[in-house]
Amino acid sequence: MILKIVKYPEQVLSQPGEPVTEFDAELRKLIADMFETTYASQGIGLAAPQVGVSKRVTVIDLSMGKEPKDKLVLINPEIISSEGKQYEEEGCLSFPEIHEKVVRAANVRIRAQDEKGKWFEMDAETLLSRCFQHEIDHLDGMLFIYRMSGLKRDLTLRRIRKMQREGSEEHTSELQSRQY
Ligand code: NI
Repeated sequence: MILKIVKYPEQVLSQPGEPVTEFDAELRKLIADMFETTYASQGIGLAAPQVGVSKRVTVIDLSMGKEPKDKLVLINPEIISSEGKQYEEEGCLSFPEIHEKVVRAANVRIRAQDEKGKWFEMDAETLLSRCFQHEIDHLDGMLFIYRMSGLKRDLTLRRIRKMQREGSEEHTSELQSRQY
């Protein structure tokens, strides 16, 4: 089932998600729906608060549905180490049409549970590292506009308010492939 993606400034996006304690059929349904929603939106990742569910669940697939082995589910994830810096353009499904450069760690090592509750660790670099950081931020109620410099954030918020005032609809450009 394709879920409705919550857009900024809805409150659920700014509150920390609750840790997952039950690894049950309801969780598996949420995960399946989140993948379906990500693919329908041409995204590469999605966090549960973005579909209005305040839980620490995120799904990621850099192949956008083309490579089954690229499907990743992170439950209760945390970054256990990070190093270096990268400064690349980022987009978010909760901020249609906004693509801005954001500073992130170059490499991260994360720890998370899979959909059965089993803990695992994983290293990531470049885009996957960025995506992990972006999604884990969502689970903490942290949005990518708050990772921008103050000036860039003010300009971006002004653009968002203007688009919302004008009722500008989200478009389906190539750029959307890098939203998460
Ligand atoms: Ni996002």
